[in-house]
Amino acid sequence: PAASADLTASAALTASVPAVSKEVTVLFGSQTGNSHKLAKKLTDKLQEQGFQATVSSMNDFKPNTLKKVQNLLILVSTHGEGDPPDNALPFYEFLHSKRAPQLEGLQFSVLALGDTSYEFFCKTGKDFDQRLEELGGKRLTPRVDCDVDFEDAAAEWMNNVLASLSEGTAVSSLASAGGAAVQIGEQTEYSRSNPFQAVVLENLNLNGRGSDRETRHLELSLEGSNLQYEPGDSLGIYPKNHPRLVGELIEAMGWKPEELVTINKNGEQRSLLEALTSHYEITVLTKPLMEQAAKLFSGSGLQELLVAGREQELRSYIRDRDLLDLVQDYNLKGVPAKDFVSILRKLPPRLYSISSSPQAYPDEVHLTIRKVEYEANGRNRYGVCSTYISEQAEPGEALPVFVQQNPSFKLPENPDAPIIMVGPGTGVAPFRAFLGEREETGAPGKTWLFFGDRHFSTDFLYQVEWQRWLKDGVLTRMDVAFSRDTDEKVYVQHRILENSKELYQWLQDGASIYVCGDEKHMAHDVHAAFATILEREGGLSPEGAAEYLARLQQEKRYQRDVY
Ligand code: 2AM
Repeated sequence: PAASADLTASAALTASVPAVSKEVTVLFGSQTGNSHKLAKKLTDKLQEQGFQATVSSMNDFKPNTLKKVQNLLILVSTHGEGDPPDNALPFYEFLHSKRAPQLEGLQFSVLALGDTSYEFFCKTGKDFDQRLEELGGKRLTPRVDCDVDFEDAAAEWMNNVLASLSEGTAVSSLASAGGAAVQIGEQTEYSRSNPFQAVVLENLNLNGRGSDRETRHLELSLEGSNLQYEPGDSLGIYPKNHPRLVGELIEAMGWKPEELVTINKNGEQRSLLEALTSHYEITVLTKPLMEQAAKLFSGSGLQELLVAGREQELRSYIRDRDLLDLVQDYNLKGVPAKDFVSILRKLPPRLYSISSSPQAYPDEVHLTIRKVEYEANGRNRYGVCSTYISEQAEPGEALPVFVQQNPSFKLPENPDAPIIMVGPGTGVAPFRAFLGEREETGAPGKTWLFFGDRHFSTDFLYQVEWQRWLKDGVLTRMDVAFSRDTDEKVYVQHRILENSKELYQWLQDGASIYVCGDEKHMAHDVHAAFATILEREGGLSPEGAAEYLARLQQEKRYQRDVY
C-alpha cells in the first residue's frame, strides 16, 4: 500500500517513559465508530509513552468507579437533534443526575465530534465538558469541537492532551522540544486516510420497473487489499460531486476549471475542476461557512443574514440549499478561486452498512444504497454519494473505500442465541450480512426479520434471498409491511405489535433485538412498540419497560445502527 498522511505517534515521544506512571481513563461514546477508533488510537499512544491507560465504551464503564479516576479523556459524538450515541446514554444520564459524585481532583478533557450543518453542533461533548467542570473537575486542555472532517482537529487535541499529561514527568522536556507534533507516517494499511481503490464488480437496481425508488446493489472487490470486516461493519466511500453542479458553480463564479487551487494543508494542488469534484463539499451550507463567506464577500448583503436575532432565518435559508444557490442568491463574484475553496469543508466520506457476509463472499463487499433525490427551493437536489453510485459507478471503475468497524452492531457471540432484526428499506442491509454469516457458520439460533417498504411488487429488496433462507431454515420467520399497497399505512412497528406474544417469548428466551435504518421516526416508533410489548405481555409499568430496554441495551442485547 502507498504511504500517506495519518496520525502517528512521534518517535521522540515514544522513546521516553514518564518517571511517575499516571493512570488515564479513556471513555468513548460512538455511534458510527469514529470516536471509538480515535479513542483506541489515543490509548495506544498513551501506553507507548508509559501511561497506564485504559479505554472503554461509556456503556462498559462502571460509574461508581468514577471517583477513583484521576485523568479522564472523553471522546463523544452527537447525533440528530443533539442526542448522545446509544452507548453513551446511560453514563450521560448518570453524570447529569443527582447520583453523580463530586469530582475535585479529577483532570479531564473532551473531544467532541459533530457536524456544523446541524443546529446542536457537538452538544453531547459540550454537555460533558460543562458537567465535569460543574462537578469540580479541572480541564487538562480545552475541549475541541470537530466538524465532519475531524482528522486534523482530533490530532491536535490528542497532541495537546499528551503534552499536558506529560508535564511534570520525564517526557515533558521532549514534548516541549517539539516532540508532540503530529508526524506524517508510513502507512501500512488501507484506512480512512489511505483508502483502497475497490473495483466495481456489479451495480444493479433492486427496484422493479415502475417503482418510485432506486436502490443500488453494489458489489465491490477487496482483492489484494487485506481489508477485513465483520457483519455489522460499515464501508466508507469517498464520492464525487455531480459534474453538472460543479460546472454550473465554476461558471457562475466566472472561474476557469483548469486553474490550480490547494486541496489540503500540505499545500498539494489540483485543478479547480478536480478540487470541486473530489475534494471539497459544495452541497451543504453551514453556519461557519456562511460567516466566512460574509467576510470574504463583504458588501454582498450576506452579513445582514448573520446578525443576532435572525438565527431562525439563517437556519431556514441554509436548509436544503447548496453553494450554487448561495452564489446566485447573493451574487457572489470577484474572489479568486483559491480564496473561495479555502473556506470550504473537505468532502467527507459516506458510510454504508455492509450487506454481505465476508464468509459468503470472500474478497468482496456488498452495499445497498438508495438514491436520494428530492425537490427543494425550486431545484432538484441529489444525494452526493448515492447519485454518484447510481450514475457513475460502472463495473470496472474503482471507488476509494475503507472499512469502518462498528463494534456496537454485532451478532451475539453465542450462535444459539435468537435474533430479532428490524430493517425497513435499506435498513435491511446488515441483516443480509447477518443471515449470510449464520448460514455459512451453521449457527442454529432462531432468526426473525421485519422488513418494510412501499410496494410489494417493486420494492421487496432481496426477496429471493429471504425466501431461500426461509426455506433452508436460516431465517425462522419473516414479517413484511408494505406501506403503500393498502389504504392505511402499515409499518414494521405494526407488524411487531401484531406479534406481541411471540416476540415477548423470544425475549424471554434470550433474543437480541437489532434495529437498522431511519432514526428519527422508524427507530423511535419501533422502540415504543417493544416497550408496549413489555407492558402488555410482561405486565411492566412504562418506567419498568423503559428500564428493561435500557438493560437490554447495556447487555448489548438491543443494538441499533440508525441514521
Ligand atoms: P412510507 O414511505 O410509505 O411512509 C422504507 O422507507 C419504508 O419505511 C417505507 O415503507 C416507508 O413508508 C416506511 N416508513 C416511513 N416512516 C416510517 C416510520 N415512522 N416507521 C416505520 N416505517 C416508516
